[in-house]
Amino acid sequence: MAKKSASSSPAAIHIGISDKDRAAIAGGLSRLLADTYTLYLTTHNFHWNVTGPMFNSLHAMFMTQYTELWNAVDPIAERIRALGHAAPGSYAQFEKLSSLKDVPATPPKAMEMVALLAQGHEAVARTAREVFPVADDADDQPTADLLTQRMDIHEKTAWMLRALLED
Ligand SMILES: [Fe+2]
Repeated sequence: MAKKSASSSPAAIHIGISDKDRAAIAGGLSRLLADTYTLYLTTHNFHWNVTGPMFNSLHAMFMTQYTELWNAVDPIAERIRALGHAAPGSYAQFEKLSSLKDVPATPPKAMEMVALLAQGHEAVARTAREVFPVADDADDQPTADLLTQRMDIHEKTAWMLRALLED
């Protein structure tokens, strides 16, 4: 028989994941949110500031990429909320939590932008991969599914960016 919860609050969460596990997963997702938001802002900045003979194609490609990243932050933040925790959403919090460096103050050359974004997508994939076992061990399938989707898109985008850097 299932153990009766110590809390009788109507707002208590009983989804079959312990308080401790929910906190650990929310912490990991907060890092993923900070990484994703930082990469979103970097990509949008590069969309604005890219120059050179590749302008048209990079300006358009960066728009596709920042739009995908912008759409990704919402499900990550809302999963944190569903686990009972507050979603970080300030520049100060994101700076503390992100594994990515802030956007360069001076716009880099076009191909340096491509290299920085490739490294950024790889970094976000690594963060998602680090968080995965925490969710998997806690039987948190929705988070594991979200992380799997994010790893897939970041690894695919990193490949496309790396391909541009090859002769
Ligand atoms: Fe634009």
